[in-house]
Amino acid sequence: MSLNAERSYKMKLRDVENAFKYRRIPYPKRSVELIALLAISCTFFLFMHTNKLNSRLKEMEVKLQPSEFSALGLTGNHISGHDAGKHDDINTLHGTYNYLKSTGQLWRLNPKFLNNTRFHTRNILFFNRVPKTGSETLIELMVRLGEKNGFQNERAPFSKPIGMYWPMERQKQEVTRIMDLQSNYAFVYVEHMNYMNIRPFHYPQPIYINMIRDPVERVISWFYHVRTPWNSLNMYEITGSFHNRTFYVKSFEECVLTHDPECRYNYGLNYKEDPGDHKRQSLFFCGHSPICEPFNTPGAIARAKQNVERDYSVIGSWEDVNVTLSVLEEYIPRFFKGATELYYEPIKGLAFKKENTNHWKPKISERIKQIIRANFSQEYDFYYFCKQRLYRQYFAINRHLHF
Ligand SMILES: *[C@@H]1O[C@H](CO)[C@@H](O)[C@H](O)[C@H]1NC(C)=O
Ligand SMILES: *[C@@H]1O[C@H](CO)[C@@H](O)[C@H](O)[C@H]1NC(C)=O
Ligand SMILES: *[C@@H]1O[C@H](CO)[C@@H](O)[C@H](O)[C@H]1NC(C)=O
Ligand SMILES: *[C@@H]1O[C@H](CO)[C@@H](O)[C@H](O)[C@H]1NC(C)=O
Repeated sequence: MSLNAERSYKMKLRDVENAFKYRRIPYPKRSVELIALLAISCTFFLFMHTNKLNSRLKEMEVKLQPSEFSALGLTGNHISGHDAGKHDDINTLHGTYNYLKSTGQLWRLNPKFLNNTRFHTRNILFFNRVPKTGSETLIELMVRLGEKNGFQNERAPFSKPIGMYWPMERQKQEVTRIMDLQSNYAFVYVEHMNYMNIRPFHYPQPIYINMIRDPVERVISWFYHVRTPWNSLNMYEITGSFHNRTFYVKSFEECVLTHDPECRYNYGLNYKEDPGDHKRQSLFFCGHSPICEPFNTPGAIARAKQNVERDYSVIGSWEDVNVTLSVLEEYIPRFFKGATELYYEPIKGLAFKKENTNHWKPKISERIKQIIRANFSQEYDFYYFCKQRLYRQYFAINRHLHF
């Protein structure tokens, strides 16, 4: 019993004693009656406490209300901005584990129902990679895996612009081109392009994969990526010109604080107002439809989630290396068997390769990140959705894990 409860319990006891002393109530004849009286007052106390606990639990339940489309039956939406990155937050590996365990879902996870690979009808791995999510590392891993597991790697040339807002006719041309690259050999196809649904074109169903990253970190990474000398040289080869000096000396902080169009993240912003847009990774999952266009809008995010749930086998992230590698291995063994071993192979393994980090990228203050995170609420919702889904796939094959 808490201190408070004990004190009031003593007060009650004193009241009872006083009542007896001053004969305000008749003296119980047997001590049994006294005990009964005390028991009743104690029960009353416990009842009050239980009530309080109950209402606390109710409050917590409300906070965990399921949303319409969600990998966990939750949405990342309520955990925006400042909560992100906290260790007790539900969007971490541990947080998701604790949530699944406490709601009794952990033991019911079945990999079969989290496995879209089951629906593929040809050994084509379709990787419509999102820029700045570390896709080059995955490509390199897949080139090595190709030798081991017997498949080829095909990719679009660097000079090809990112595939966005293609009309149906163009989508059909692209699908035809990709599907005809190899007639009966297993292969991976890699290109920066929005999701395409292949069903209307009556081709066999491929296996879809992708990688994601924290939305704001990705945007910052893109900002400095386009300012690197190597990217400028590549762009020069394509466009025949360089940006001017103002462009190269611009900092991300200054760009945000001065409302530069390059760093504007307004609700509903569309592609026509903002060409060459790299602000939303959800676009790569939503597709080519006009609904996908306006920035940070629920319609685009709902469509992206639908496509993920229906078609993507695995959406990984280098923020969770081991989880991603093991989920890829277990859910797409035809292509990824042995991926973890290869990645951590002594000396030659990708884990020991110098990271593809951009030394031109300065550290951006948390304050600036906070300012823009608020405008990425839907993008975060989608990002957390994918992370929760990845974790759930992981726990489904590792139910014995204990944290
Ligand atoms: C530099 O280029 C930007 C667009 O990238 C343009 O708005 C600006 O006027 C240019 N500045 C100079 C000094 O040419
Ligand atoms: C965030 O969105 C609000 C409302 O759409 C807008 O006023 C503000 O300028 C945006 N912030 C940034 C950094 O784009
Ligand atoms: C990931 O796996 C490697 C190799 O099995 C191991 O050395 C490393 O500690 C793991 N990292 C984490 C964060 O679990
Ligand atoms: C997922 O499905 C593929 C294809 O049917 C199969 O090879 C793989 O073992 C499955 N993985 C899991 C974890 O069920």
